[in-house]
Amino acid sequence: MIPYKLLFVDPDNNALDAYRRLIKAMRPAWSSSFAATGRDAMSVMRKLKPDVLVTELNMTVENGVDLLKTVQKFYPDVIRIVLSSEPDAQAETILNATQSAHRFLVKPCKGESLIAHVEQAAELRKIIFSEELRKIIGGIPYLPSLPQLYHELLKAMESPLISVAEIGDIIARDMSMTTRVLHLVNSAFFGLPRQVSNPHEAAVMLGLNVLKSLILYVKLFFAAPDSKIPGFSLDDMWAHSSLTARLSRDIAKGLGGNSHIQEDAFLAGMLHDVGKLLLLEHPKYLKSVMLRQANDDDLSFVDAEYKEFSASHAEIGGYLLGLWGLPDLVVEAVACHHRPSQISGEASPVLAATHLANVMLCRQAGDEIDYDENLLNQGEIKMMLPDWNLLATRLYEERNTN
Ligand SMILES: [Fe+2]
Ligand SMILES: [Fe+2]
Repeated sequence: MIPYKLLFVDPDNNALDAYRRLIKAMRPAWSSSFAATGRDAMSVMRKLKPDVLVTELNMTVENGVDLLKTVQKFYPDVIRIVLSSEPDAQAETILNATQSAHRFLVKPCKGESLIAHVEQAAELRKIIFSEELRKIIGGIPYLPSLPQLYHELLKAMESPLISVAEIGDIIARDMSMTTRVLHLVNSAFFGLPRQVSNPHEAAVMLGLNVLKSLILYVKLFFAAPDSKIPGFSLDDMWAHSSLTARLSRDIAKGLGGNSHIQEDAFLAGMLHDVGKLLLLEHPKYLKSVMLRQANDDDLSFVDAEYKEFSASHAEIGGYLLGLWGLPDLVVEAVACHHRPSQISGEASPVLAATHLANVMLCRQAGDEIDYDENLLNQGEIKMMLPDWNLLATRLYEERNTN
């Protein structure tokens, strides 16, 4: 087990003592530091560079949100967990923290649960070894939305008769908005017994007032600027993602998955390329990948990414979704959608469906990427491939004729 370095920030000394006792009893190999103010926290941050920050939001001297934002700016690869005495998910401080906190926990929090959250988030680092890449991912406060959906959402917000279900419909069509509402709803504030994969359900749970605050005041969503990357179209990427979502759900059904598995497969298909959205903000990364590809005609974009960074947009997206607490099967499917054999043992139906749907739809668009051979030999997959390919052709043609 890796001995992580933790920093706990809380103005209440009793809370800090409780954390001290917890770590000593449950994870004695970890090193923990403690601070009662944001200023003390930053001084520890400079000296010790912890892996994980666990902070209260309601501070007497400074605002916990400011601390989170400062850490995000200067130490973006630190995992940021809020452990708050504010029980209300609609509180302004909570909503303001959504851009910079990875996880939200509520006091009183069981010791085992806190340890599990720290470990689960910190272990995601195994997906991305490069500190530089982790810094890129940890530093982003926003994910860009498709401009037309963003404007549709703003317009809908102006209508006094708008329902939460209608807002949910728009959110569900956009991969960034979907990710953000699921991030919030899967936080401990909602105390749900299971992880939520459905953006409609998430929008209803948040309610119209919270959605309005997030959209109009916190400005959690924003429209992607025009892409300056030659050969890259946001519209194509969104269309590819929504087709992959539909096909992935049908494949998961064909693999015998129940309704939850089908929902996870739909979400994983929708979000499988979310890592590319992050890369749009980092042209340096994209340029080096494209240069590598230009020097070797046989190299696909994703293989060039692996050669250049030992990771691809798949792991980048999986890492981000994992930090934000999205359902585990979805995180795994997104992280491994190009290389499902990365995981030991059989691929889950969610991962299998996402991989197959992506390959089929990439091939429809003329991008000859390969199937994972091990996956093809799993269960009845090879036998069912022709039917799913027919479905992929139908979906692709349907989209092109609309
Ligand atoms: Fe991909
Ligand atoms: Fe894709």
